[in-house]
Amino acid sequence: MKVTIVGAGNVGASCADVISYRGIASEVVILDIKEGFAEGKAMDLMQCATNTGFNTQISGVTNDYSKTANSDVVVITSGIPRKPGMTREELIGINAGIVKSVVDNVLVHSPNSIIVVVSNPMDTMTYLALKATGLPKNRIIGMGGALDSSRFRYYLSKALDKPSNDISAMVIGGHGDTTMIPLTRLAAYNGIPVSEFLSQEELDKVAASTMVGGATLTGLLGTSAWYAPGASVAYLVDSILNDQKKMIACSVLLEGEYGQNDICIGVPCIIGKNGVEQIVEIKLNDAEKASFAKSADAVRNMNADLQSVLA
Ligand code: NAI
Ligand code: 2OP
Repeated sequence: MKVTIVGAGNVGASCADVISYRGIASEVVILDIKEGFAEGKAMDLMQCATNTGFNTQISGVTNDYSKTANSDVVVITSGIPRKPGMTREELIGINAGIVKSVVDNVLVHSPNSIIVVVSNPMDTMTYLALKATGLPKNRIIGMGGALDSSRFRYYLSKALDKPSNDISAMVIGGHGDTTMIPLTRLAAYNGIPVSEFLSQEELDKVAASTMVGGATLTGLLGTSAWYAPGASVAYLVDSILNDQKKMIACSVLLEGEYGQNDICIGVPCIIGKNGVEQIVEIKLNDAEKASFAKSADAVRNMNADLQSVLA
């Protein structure tokens, strides 16, 4: 089981850390454009092995894609992160060029890999990767919903004062401050709707905190977050490599599902060894349907900016 992570920055390194610590893959290659950076991160991570007891082999390379050959999964975290006051959407110009060149290089050496896109604006970068490569839709997965859902569960756990592992909840829609849709109506505490314990006002506050969860951390840290993003990618990679068939909100090409076409956006998916094995269509109420349509419009508008990269 070999995983390549392109981008040895905060999210890429954190993802490698969780993958190795939890024994999700036997081999991890980290690749970065910055001379020596991936090598340094890999060496630092490998020096954890004796104290934490993992057996994963982690190596780092500077822009040498031949070392990534025959990867089962490739995670793309290369690109610039948001700084305080920036939206994910403002990253599109620089990151589109990076993501396009990375997927082209990756597929030369790992033609059968499943690609997980993390770079922002993630839904648009996922759509770009899909269009640029022509790969079947099950092999291009955008990671954002797993992170947003874990933030939703965190805020619910704080409001309920109960452990987040006892809470199940999902965020669908775009991975953006105004486009994500925390499904408050369907969130549950050990099978019981959270509305049994929290008022509508409290639930609205949880949803609002979730939506700006990334921006809150960017304000505090001076750059975007990495521990929860890295752990969320590792969770997704685990479900692929170990064929766990977990239901995870992922950005995937829709072809009629949820009333949308020709767009990558977050919906519940069954994730297994073939990547996206099923898109789960749940019944949304009218308000949720309207939010989803609005979110899709915003993502579609952003996708229009890709024309020059895809030409
Ligand atoms: P970072 O700046 O720490 O790391 C990015 C790395 O990419 C740098 O080491 C840089 O040298 C490398 N890089 C740039 N161009 C490259 C190229 N052409 N080939 C290989 N490597 C290249 O940034 P961080 O915090 O790791 O974030 C990475 C991306 O992930 C950003 O776009 C960020 O917005 C996004 N992100 C997405 C999340 C999601 O849920 N989808 C969550 C968190 C971050
Ligand atoms: C996050 O949600 C910025 O996408 C990044 O933390």
